[in-house]
Amino acid sequence: MTTDELEKLLAVQPVSLLHQLGRGRIPRHFRLGKRRLIEALLRSTATNRAGLESDLLALMKDGDRQQSRPQAQPRTEPASPRRQSVSGEPESAEPATDLKAFLEGIGVPEPSPFVPDPWQDEALAHLAETDVIVSVPTGSGKTYVAVEATRRAIDTERTVIYTSPLKALSNTKFTEFSKLFGADRVGILTGDRRDNTHAPLLIMTTEILRNLLYDAAGGEIDVRLDTLGLVIMDESQYLADPERGVVWEETIIFCPSQARLLLLSASIGNPQDIAAWLSSIRPTPCHLVRHNRRTVPLRAGYLHPSGKLAPLFRSVGIPHGHASLHPESKRLFSQYEAETLQPRSR
Ligand SMILES: Nc1ncnc2c1ncn2[C@@H]1O[C@H](COP(=O)(O)OP(=O)(O)OP(=O)(O)O)[C@@H](O)[C@H]1O
Ligand SMILES: [Mg+2]
Repeated sequence: MTTDELEKLLAVQPVSLLHQLGRGRIPRHFRLGKRRLIEALLRSTATNRAGLESDLLALMKDGDRQQSRPQAQPRTEPASPRRQSVSGEPESAEPATDLKAFLEGIGVPEPSPFVPDPWQDEALAHLAETDVIVSVPTGSGKTYVAVEATRRAIDTERTVIYTSPLKALSNTKFTEFSKLFGADRVGILTGDRRDNTHAPLLIMTTEILRNLLYDAAGGEIDVRLDTLGLVIMDESQYLADPERGVVWEETIIFCPSQARLLLLSASIGNPQDIAAWLSSIRPTPCHLVRHNRRTVPLRAGYLHPSGKLAPLFRSVGIPHGHASLHPESKRLFSQYEAETLQPRSR
């Protein structure tokens, strides 16, 4: 068989058969897509071409024999413990994580009294004295810090500006905060909307606040800044945005010195540097509240286009290091590749 003939023959085989051929020949063959698997198999023939060809023919014959057997009924019960994986590697009796375990606990939790987390109390305590950066994972409860700090500022006759990077998020926060504080105490200022601009809590996009601070530096504006007690910048990781980051930077630089700054983010990589910069340009040192514990654990799943869902990894939670793939995900992934990858046309 010439290399060309061998390549053509490999190209028309199902990917599962190629994985069986890859076993013992190509390290980590199950990670390769069909095309790269064929290339790797061809490379491996340099040492044992005859072995590959005879294995290929044997597997093809096997496949033919199985096809001529009567079709089995689709199985509904769990897979056989001795099943072989698509990669030809034996799999353990039961997948480490089944779908039920993977989905367990998702839903609305039982109501229980609200108890602030220590980091939430820490942020609020420091905000009485200094600027604060809160850098904690998503879903941790940063809104509580923003709401509570706003309540405290309004109670002491100071006004609050809350900024977000998106008009849509500003609108959502306007609705949310109007319910919490009362519609008369919340206003909004975006490119599209201007409502109740004399309210003690004003929601706006960061660009609008930056422009407001520019105008304030030059003269007249219709928003009072002398009573401003707190500026909350949600999603403050935008500071690192190559295009819009400058808006966050200028807003921080021009922010009135009597107001406290509260920066909220789930994804600043170097919050200690931002805190050091804030401390160097603002009248008070900036306190950093930071942790990486996820209150809401992430679950990684693989969703096949047919609608079938399987845990992506053998363990739940976010895997660190080299997590191994769940056998069912591996199987679905190979099936997807076999269905979608066409043999290379020459
Ligand atoms: N101390 C707490 N105990 C229990 N639940 C809390 C606590 N603090 C906040 N929550 C709840 O956690 C959920 C997520 O909170 P929130 O929306 O404030 O997260 P976030 O940190 O702003 O996330 P994101 O980064 O996605 O904006 C909300 O339902 C909130 O009520
Ligand atoms: Mg949030």
